[in-house]
Amino acid sequence: MSSAPTIKILDLPALHSGIRDRIMESIERVVDGGQYVMGEEVEAFEQELARFTGAKHAIGCGSGSDALSLSLQAADVGPGDEVLCPAFSFFSTASSIARLGAHPVFVDIHPQSLNMDLEATKEIVSECTRLKALLPVDLFGRVAQIDGFVNLGEEIGVPVIEDAAQAIGARDGELACAGTKARMGCISFYPSKNLGALGEGGAILTADEAVAERLRNLRTHGQSAPNHFTELGFNSRLDALQAAILRVKLQALPEWLRARKEVASYYDAKLSEAGALPWGSMLSQAELPLLYPPTPPKPAQSAHHQYTIQVLPEMRETLRSRLSQRGIETAIYYAVGLHEQPALAKHGRTPRPLTITDEATRSVMSLPCHPGINSDARSRVMTALVEEVKDLVQLIR
Ligand SMILES: Cc1ncc(COP(=O)(O)O)c(C=O)c1O
Repeated sequence: MSSAPTIKILDLPALHSGIRDRIMESIERVVDGGQYVMGEEVEAFEQELARFTGAKHAIGCGSGSDALSLSLQAADVGPGDEVLCPAFSFFSTASSIARLGAHPVFVDIHPQSLNMDLEATKEIVSECTRLKALLPVDLFGRVAQIDGFVNLGEEIGVPVIEDAAQAIGARDGELACAGTKARMGCISFYPSKNLGALGEGGAILTADEAVAERLRNLRTHGQSAPNHFTELGFNSRLDALQAAILRVKLQALPEWLRARKEVASYYDAKLSEAGALPWGSMLSQAELPLLYPPTPPKPAQSAHHQYTIQVLPEMRETLRSRLSQRGIETAIYYAVGLHEQPALAKHGRTPRPLTITDEATRSVMSLPCHPGINSDARSRVMTALVEEVKDLVQLIR
């Protein structure tokens, strides 16, 4: 076991320590103000979030999962409908579709981005008879090929709902923030996200006035005027306390994004120097059998939510346990494709083999990459990773 301090996959108390006073002030303001659900804090946060992302409307809600459910309902997705989404994502990408009685139709991911493959989507679209929406995910903070999906959606007459839960701060161009080009963009403020609440929270971004109004009604039980309920909605309002905390954290977000980028660039350089190759390459052709996330083509910018590498499946668990012994935490997102989750078995459809998804579930592992990783920590991570992979490859080959 290492005597050096553990390098955590995420350390929220440490992250909050620099803004703790301001967080406590914001909590006191809400406690003393007496408005605990919605109200001024939520409205102010929604405006600040809209300004940060460039979205016309930002609508706060109870979680990222609720943001997806509300958006799907606002797109009139209902029983028997089909929605195309990737199987390499968090559970609620697909469960939000299934909960409405609709079918998630799983599309494979692209090996160079691990995001839903646009060409594969085009092939499957023509086989769907009740297609109601496209739901690409900005996985690990990298924006999906959103222009392509929006064009495809326009061609076939269905909206795009972007699962940008992991991608606040990512850009798909100089000005276009993740979640702003699709009809609706869904953000999560789960504590571990780049902009995390101290509890649950989410938001939907949209430029469409009518959609925004419907979403505001839907998050309040479907209430369109006091005591007047026009459709069955949710109770999914954002707490004032979370909004107030998120307002403080939003101010720190640009600096945190810069810090994440610095760690990721360091990892990119070190891994490339050691003989690793970018995602989409053959592991067997790399001098060091490891693939790292390629920089997205300019002008896109990742939000570096996760720094995810791919390794030989037969070494993954041993590698993780050796890194853990050296005081380095790692995580796996995602070990099981959504097409293989028992809860989705009778809801989901998989028209084509999900070869790249299945490979990814066996080979991915995420490294600590957050603003708390200082230069000592990042060099420890790289030294240990490269040494252990080199050693394990000798044992395997
Ligand atoms: C890709 C993706 N979609 C949806 C969600 C759901 O967000 P939440 O946990 O806020 O409900 C998450 C968060 O875990 C996510 O990573």
